[in-house]
Amino acid sequence: MTDRYAVIGNPIAHSKSPLIHAEFAKQTNQDMTYEAILAPLEGFRETVEGLRMAGYKGLNVTVPFKFEAFLYATSKSERAETAKAVNTLSFAGGAVFGDNTDGIGLVADIEKNLDFPIAGKSILLVGMGGAAWGVLSPLLQQKPKRLTLSNRTVAKAEDAARVLASLGKYDPTEIAAKPFDRLAGQQFDIVINATSSGLKDEMPPLPPGLFSENSLAYDMMYGRQTPFMAFAGKEGASRISDGLGMLVEQAAEAFFLWRGIRPQTAPVIEKQRT
Ligand code: ATR
Repeated sequence: MTDRYAVIGNPIAHSKSPLIHAEFAKQTNQDMTYEAILAPLEGFRETVEGLRMAGYKGLNVTVPFKFEAFLYATSKSERAETAKAVNTLSFAGGAVFGDNTDGIGLVADIEKNLDFPIAGKSILLVGMGGAAWGVLSPLLQQKPKRLTLSNRTVAKAEDAARVLASLGKYDPTEIAAKPFDRLAGQQFDIVINATSSGLKDEMPPLPPGLFSENSLAYDMMYGRQTPFMAFAGKEGASRISDGLGMLVEQAAEAFFLWRGIRPQTAPVIEKQRT
């Protein structure tokens, strides 16, 4: 019988995930389907229960349900525990396993596709919403020299830095929280925009001079040139990337969790760009 999967969110109509998973399934000869399903804002749990009863094998979960998916899972990966968010659910019997593949997707895109090793680098992560939390633990596992967290509401960055320090397992990476204006005079090798500001054609008020000589500017948004990417160009960042590669890589990791096979991502990223 054909195995069924889906991505669930609200809104969901513009999701690229069905196309990406269809490419993966074709490439690896998997007998499966993958749909996009809209859940009512107050109806995540009921929708997921219905899909499980109908025999679905797993789901991707996107905005705004990643925290509800975290609560729904009966067991979780460590990276999902740190993120307090789940983007991939796997169903087996009565058990629901929750994982978060966003961060590993970002790491794979930066290290593999962009050929930019993270170990020993100085990283600035801008934004402290769900998107930023999702990537903290996989970024730290690559052992950067320093991770600086900055956010418009600086208390959120301070809280996150405290939580990470209290875990005590990411030494010797220096973890710090700073308001935007206190970043002036510092340089970073990797600057990641994890805010949703690009959706409104805005960007955080970052000071000039942030990019080191060999630096990467990464915007987790995709499908448009964001003000942050334009800023990075003017500021002389060596490499500038949107988040399309991260999207495809997080999907590949979910596919691997479900099917035990790693699809090739490069041709799928290429196809999505054209
Ligand atoms: P997501 O799940 O996409 O991360 P979110 O949880 O609503 O969405 O978080 C949005 C993030 O973008 C937050 O870090 C937010 O900053 P605040 O915590 O101060 O609200 C940030 N953000 C959104 N618009 C922004 C803007 N115009 N300038 C700076 N930061 C912005």
